[in-house]
Amino acid sequence: MAAIIKTPTQIEGIKKSCRLASQTLDYITPFIKEGINTEKINQLIHQFILKNSARPAPLNYKGFPKSICTSLNNVVCHGIPSSKQILKSGDILNIDVTTILNGYYGDTSRMFTIGQVSKEAELLVKRTKKAMMMAIKKLAPNKYLNDCVGKIIEPYIKKFGYSSVRDLCGHGVGIKFHEDPSVFFYDIKQKDVLLKPGMVLTVEPMVNASPSWQIATDINDGWTIRTTDGALSAQWEHTVLITKKGHEILSKS
Ligand code: MF3
Ligand code: CO
Ligand code: CO
Repeated sequence: MAAIIKTPTQIEGIKKSCRLASQTLDYITPFIKEGINTEKINQLIHQFILKNSARPAPLNYKGFPKSICTSLNNVVCHGIPSSKQILKSGDILNIDVTTILNGYYGDTSRMFTIGQVSKEAELLVKRTKKAMMMAIKKLAPNKYLNDCVGKIIEPYIKKFGYSSVRDLCGHGVGIKFHEDPSVFFYDIKQKDVLLKPGMVLTVEPMVNASPSWQIATDINDGWTIRTTDGALSAQWEHTVLITKKGHEILSKS
């Protein structure tokens, strides 16, 4: 459970990588429209990251075949870009970008709505972002991680009849893709990690528009994770540094 305390040099490096990951999402935003396919998005992002002297962390990570994750509608996370998957009006899409710049990792994701989406979909996307931000605002040294994240996100999301996915979590990040500690998005009812300045974590809640947090992995590709009941799912992700005074969101442009 121990989290790595990063040195000032490492923090500088992680910050630059996170900024690039965020700028990558800014870059791709105008392309996210009806008619584009997710493989095209993957290629554009791949080229943009390389042009900026970095590498996409997902590519070949534990065998993942593409440079980003694209998770559409009822896909919770780890969706694989495909030329057969063409965006249409009403879709909601998560794009998850992780960069490796000078050896340092930056991890961030955003939701995109395509054309006219249902009120239900729009609210899910907005409330999931709000849940992430509510948790981030609590992060500060000498507090327990679960008090800031799990205990805040789950009750907020439940009010709307949604559920916070339990089988996947956030993570320490920076020197490696996934480091200790695990960041849970439900109340684990434990005094877990005591936060300290220099820790770098992701806050990346996955929220299903249904009371069921149950998920299933696609048996054919071994990656795509969907809601079991077919409900829509949304996710937002930031990489956050614990500072002496509180926290700093690193994954911003
Ligand atoms: N970026 C994801 C995260 O937030 C991890 C994706 S792993 C992959 O932790 F292999 F699917 F890319
Ligand atoms: Co990510
Ligand atoms: Co992450």
